Amino acid sequence: MSNSPVAIDDLYRRLSNQDKGVLKGKKALIRVDFNVPMTDGKIDDDSRIKAAIPTLQYLLENDCSVVILSHLGRPKGKVVETLRLNPIAKRLEDLLGKTVTKLDTCIGDDVQSAKKNLKPGEVLLLENTRFYSDETHNLAPFSRELAENMDFFVQDAFGCVHRAHASVEGVTHFLPSMMGFLVEKEFEALKNIFVNKKKPLTLVIGGAKIDTKIGVIRNFLPIADTILIGGGLANTFFNAKGYNVKDSLVELDKASIALEILQDAGEEACQIMLPRDFVVSKEISETAETRILNRTKGEKMNDGEKILDIGPETINRFSEVIAKSQTIIWNGPAGLFEFSPFEEGTKALGKAIESNNNITIVGGGDSVDAINRFGFDQNKFSHISTGGGAMLEFLEGKMLPGISALKKHHEL
Ligand code: 3PG
Repeated sequence: MSNSPVAIDDLYRRLSNQDKGVLKGKKALIRVDFNVPMTDGKIDDDSRIKAAIPTLQYLLENDCSVVILSHLGRPKGKVVETLRLNPIAKRLEDLLGKTVTKLDTCIGDDVQSAKKNLKPGEVLLLENTRFYSDETHNLAPFSRELAENMDFFVQDAFGCVHRAHASVEGVTHFLPSMMGFLVEKEFEALKNIFVNKKKPLTLVIGGAKIDTKIGVIRNFLPIADTILIGGGLANTFFNAKGYNVKDSLVELDKASIALEILQDAGEEACQIMLPRDFVVSKEISETAETRILNRTKGEKMNDGEKILDIGPETINRFSEVIAKSQTIIWNGPAGLFEFSPFEEGTKALGKAIESNNNITIVGGGDSVDAINRFGFDQNKFSHISTGGGAMLEFLEGKMLPGISALKKHHEL
């Protein structure tokens, strides 16, 4: 199985395994993923900040001082005023209940002297790491400066572990490095899909494009009993099978990949289920007129129509599979759920997953948004990942540079 290099080896250093006495008085450099959605300088969703609190609190309670690194958005190596971390520093102060000193740079004399003068229990937040192009180029001098005057590094930015960036991977060459509680939790939950397989295992996959999901589908063909495909992704399969999807979102150049997957699934005895019926409309709006079509009954789409959700028969078939599964992994919505005429599919599958008391793992921004939008109880899911791209790459079986770097063993 291609996932084994990341998933099975357990030799990673973990903060949870460190002797607490060893931490006392040490300076911890921690990478978190505070890349939160913001509108007009206000944080729309602080889940990612909250997710880093257990590790930060643990370090502070054990008399460490803490220097925090994060990116926000994609400023491409330039200072972008709206992407400064100041609003995040404020929110973090509220959540930690202590002063967070925010600096406007990540490197330089001021930063180094602030680090040197840090006392146990104090918190320093550096500026958006992506204001420096050396960050994404993972340049060693930049990593070395980030690591300077620090004693060890904690990786707690699960959403970024697929990026070989200086603050994610580069710093591990200069400091003893280990995973924080969030990365450990994410890593264990995702690893167990492969290591302690509970069958039947169902992958529920949706979203717009086949490109971003193809690797995951392929990696799951030998593992999953069933793969339920919805969203725009399904249109590419319909087109490949000769059904005219008219104005629907479709990747015409991916037809051969779609057919290949269907064939490989047969060889692996993995059942791929495509929607039989769907909701179509000529417009995308709250007041859109819709109709239900069943492609397996030979019903055809009209010019100008788009497929925007799965239909009731498909909801029932998919929900039955979900109800019988011991493990469910959900990534990507079944339709354009942001508009109420096209929300039923995603809502119904989310409900079916929420009602399953076995292993239920959810990831990807859209699926997590759907959980919030439809008011599902987050506690009823076994694991909701903070990582979008990172989770997908893990599920694809790729090496994640931010995690594999933690294998190096050197003492604190
Ligand atoms: C995310 O939002 O998925 C992470 O913060 C990574 O962001 P990136 O895709 O800009 O690297």
